[in-house]
Amino acid sequence: MILVTGGAGFIGTNLVRAAVARGEEVLVVDRLGYAAQEANLEDGGARVRLVALDLAAPGDALDRLLAEARPRAVVHCAAETHVDRSIAGPEAFVASNLVGTFRLLEAVRAYWTGLPEEEGRAFRLLHVSTDEVYGSRAPEDPPNREGDPYEPTSPYAATKAGSDHLARAWQRTYGLPVLVTNCTNNYGPYQYPEKFLPLVIHQALRGRPLPVYGDGRQVRDWLYVDDHVRALLRVLEAGTVGATYHVSAGLGPTNLEVLERLCAILDRLRPRPEGPTRALVRHVTDRPAHDRRYALDSTRLRRELGWRPEESLESGLEKTVRWYLAHEDWWRRAAGEDFRRWLAARYEPEVAR
Ligand code: TYD
Repeated sequence: MILVTGGAGFIGTNLVRAAVARGEEVLVVDRLGYAAQEANLEDGGARVRLVALDLAAPGDALDRLLAEARPRAVVHCAAETHVDRSIAGPEAFVASNLVGTFRLLEAVRAYWTGLPEEEGRAFRLLHVSTDEVYGSRAPEDPPNREGDPYEPTSPYAATKAGSDHLARAWQRTYGLPVLVTNCTNNYGPYQYPEKFLPLVIHQALRGRPLPVYGDGRQVRDWLYVDDHVRALLRVLEAGTVGATYHVSAGLGPTNLEVLERLCAILDRLRPRPEGPTRALVRHVTDRPAHDRRYALDSTRLRRELGWRPEESLESGLEKTVRWYLAHEDWWRRAAGEDFRRWLAARYEPEVAR
């Protein structure tokens, strides 16, 4: 069995569902914060067990759980992930991403140290991270490679950078069999609507403005979440202990270009009687220290482990829109009280209504 932290969040949910489909048993440890939904895992049946636990909280609950469940691997997806929330309130990010990772590493180290030799050799801890640790790339810069210096700008990115350093230090110092992945912006089913793409879909389906920060010319290297999940399972299976792998499709559209495609897909699948969806686009106040561009070079993962993305931006966006159209109950539940409070705090009243 594998243990997935943050398994009721966006990437975690997609990972757990894929692992179960492959016949794995999964133990999910999740704080069940605002972006998680227990219902995401309901149809996993007996193969999925969910334990509500905050990794950052002191105590021995995680030690007891590890001793009882005896996982062969841990995938660490649990994190606070929204840059704008990290600007509004950085403390939760220090708690989850730094303290939570520290406590997980310590609990896993104690568990792993006590394993019989063969099980200890086969054990893996996969730490899941982000391209944002490298900071912003200029248009002419080559994509970041593994080992490049970290230059995080937001509190979110800084805490993820710190958690990567902790994970690698536990590998070097204690020999814990850690692997690290850094991935680009994910999108797809089960993503909480505060993030750009599900926010745009959510707003469009309600006929509300689609908020674009600043000039909308920022560049992200979008990856469909299933492609990320396949990379994680591949690294877990065949990655080299101590190595870092970048996961990316190698795309570089601007936010406006992505928005344009998304609007065209929405117009095709759910036309608005009032006119084209793009008429809802509004330029709103930019995020402070907004990184212009992220880009990762994923040659190592492709060459060494034979991974490559299966979805194009077009096919991934269409799958995503279709999923949200078919799961209105899901996004309406996600867009509850907490979400409305967040919109009102971050956006102009016209957008937040
Ligand atoms: P986001 O989904 O928050 O991911 P990240 O900041 O981690 O890349 O944002 C993706 C891009 O979209 C980023 O350049 C910020 C921009 N953005 C908007 O233009 N409007 C919005 O309302 C949001 C949430 C993001």
